[in-house]
Amino acid sequence: MPVVTTPELADRYLMQVGRRLPVTFVRGQGCLVYDDAGNEYLDLVAGIAVNLLGHAHPEVAGAIANQAKTLIHTSNLYFTQPQVELARRLVELSFPSRVFFCNSGAEANEAAIKIARKWGTRNRAGAHEIITTLGSFHGRTLATVTAGGQPKYSDPFKPLPEGFVHVPYNDLDEIKAATSARTVAVMLEPVMGEIGVVPAKPGYLAGVRRWCDDQGLLLILDEVQTGLGRTGRWFAHQHHGITPDVMTLAKGLGGGVPIGACLAAPKADVFEPGDHGSTFGGNPLACAAALSVLNVIERDGLVGHAAEMGEMLNAAIHGLGGKEVRGLGLMQAVEFAEPRAKAFQQACLEARLVVNAVDDHSIRFVPPLIITAEQIDRAQHTMHEVLK
Ligand SMILES: Cc1ncc(COP(=O)(O)O)c(C=O)c1O
Repeated sequence: MPVVTTPELADRYLMQVGRRLPVTFVRGQGCLVYDDAGNEYLDLVAGIAVNLLGHAHPEVAGAIANQAKTLIHTSNLYFTQPQVELARRLVELSFPSRVFFCNSGAEANEAAIKIARKWGTRNRAGAHEIITTLGSFHGRTLATVTAGGQPKYSDPFKPLPEGFVHVPYNDLDEIKAATSARTVAVMLEPVMGEIGVVPAKPGYLAGVRRWCDDQGLLLILDEVQTGLGRTGRWFAHQHHGITPDVMTLAKGLGGGVPIGACLAAPKADVFEPGDHGSTFGGNPLACAAALSVLNVIERDGLVGHAAEMGEMLNAAIHGLGGKEVRGLGLMQAVEFAEPRAKAFQQACLEARLVVNAVDDHSIRFVPPLIITAEQIDRAQHTMHEVLK
């Protein structure tokens, strides 16, 4: 009998929605992952900014196992303790608000879009347009793919929902020029991730906040990738001295267990019974995982650690000969002048280092928050060897 490999089976049975790299991971420990041949890799991608505490963290695994033995799911017809407790913790860490739980970043952003539309109906004579930025990424549902400013993801699926206007990032005047009586909200990532890690310039978010206040618009911040310590603050907007009206979270929240959240300040808290919902959203299993993630981040001081390690990582990738290095905390990227990012990613993989080519030019690094200085040294050494 011929041995059937996982990639062959995957080609046969999985929809081909993305190109997978030729490796099959079977287990992980901290910042290390292992393939089916037993090779060890240093993981600087963390499931695309998801595994904040690395792989197989004992406390997350323990919390999941305990909750699984107690109560996995009840639906949202009833209260559950982990859900209420998680909402309380998120609000205490961020700004006065209430929380809707879902299962992904796209769903969290869908909730934010629906909030903005309902708010516009109530408060701005039916205004419903949301200003977002070119190059942004907000998810893959029809509304969020349209909100995102990357036509390659939305064009094949026309007709798209109307009501989204795209302007260049980091330019407040463009937002001002795009604002009209139809506008209801501005929706931004504090650091654009998927396009190759583009941080908001100093003053940009504060300027947008002021403009939204002046004009009576909602400010929605998509912190799906930047939230929960990733940038060296609990939430990236805290670097800018502002708070949004609506904030979305997902990715790292469950430490790898799917969960998303949409937080709305009292002004934007317009959902009423029947307006929105999710069968799985915020179920006890996902919320217990998320609570354990928050507990460990807090107890182990991982937000400050991420800031410190982020500076080290930034310095390490400066030596890679790129034309630009960008980032905030443990969300960093190097952009090469030549289209060599995919080849670099593949060569790193062969050298047992996991990095993420977001396009032909840029490599993104979003390692677990628990990464150590020694591991960053090891990654730097491997990347220099690869470049030789
Ligand atoms: C900023 C941002 N928003 C939303 C999403 C969508 O999240 P999900 O894939 O969980 O739907 C992503 C995913 O990469 C993201 O980076």
